[in-house]
Amino acid sequence: MPRNLQMEYVDLYLVHWPMSVKPSKPHFPMKREDIVQMDLKGVWQAMEECHRLGLAKMIGVSNFTTKKLQELLAIAEIPPAVNQVELNPAWQQKKLIEFCKEKGIHVTAYSPLGGQSRTSKINAVLQSEILKEIAEARGKSIAQISLRWIFEQGASMVAKSMKKERLQENLEIFDWELTDEDRFKITQIPQYKKVTVLAILCPEGVPGVDLSEVDVVET
Ligand SMILES: NC(=O)c1ccc[n+]([C@@H]2O[C@H](COP(=O)([O-])OP(=O)(O)OC[C@H]3O[C@@H](n4cnc5c(N)ncnc54)[C@H](OP(=O)(O)O)[C@@H]3O)[C@@H](O)[C@H]2O)c1
Repeated sequence: MPRNLQMEYVDLYLVHWPMSVKPSKPHFPMKREDIVQMDLKGVWQAMEECHRLGLAKMIGVSNFTTKKLQELLAIAEIPPAVNQVELNPAWQQKKLIEFCKEKGIHVTAYSPLGGQSRTSKINAVLQSEILKEIAEARGKSIAQISLRWIFEQGASMVAKSMKKERLQENLEIFDWELTDEDRFKITQIPQYKKVTVLAILCPEGVPGVDLSEVDVVET
């Protein structure tokens, strides 16, 4: 894998979802018969081997719920360093963050600004009235309020922008803080999970595969 990237090693290598698809050319949505239950032990042993061979400095997971992490921790010789999950003020994942903290697993937020509008017109972060009110009062952008809140949860984030000025704006979150009142208001934001396996991969559902394990709605 690093050879394909023309690198000797990667810093971090993640299991993207706790589920498997049959080998095929990528296509979306996938057919229900393409999705199969994941061999968690086999996959993780292969990840551990990548680490031992020096191909990945660190190994981790993505989209793992507390239940899936528990399963993984029970069989792992090398625990995951990172869990990359949907995390922002509109999907706060309190239980998962606490669990990861307790187990020493670093959390990285994806869709930290509510994600792109490709699949849905709703952006529960950038369209949040509560975040807008805080942003106006603090002289910051809504994006900055969201990213600062994530940073204050002890998480890192992968924010995406194609615009240079936004990339700069998104970096300017480290020399100020939210107030306790801001933090309280953010706890009042209605919770909305944008990324679901069912919506992205297989709207029809998958017989024999319990997608509730990967699509657990928890805050
Ligand atoms: N592990 C996973 O399963 C998973 C799932 C989803 C996403 N991800 C990763 O997470 C990363 C980011 O997530 P994402 O792209 O879903 O969403 P995101 O970073 O929350 O949002 C990106 C959207 O926000 C806009 N944006 C960026 N900065 C802004 C600002 N300051 N003000 C207003 N709008 C702003 C961008 O538009 P412009 O480009 O026009 O600025 C883009 O439409 C990506 O690298 C993606 O690969 C991982």
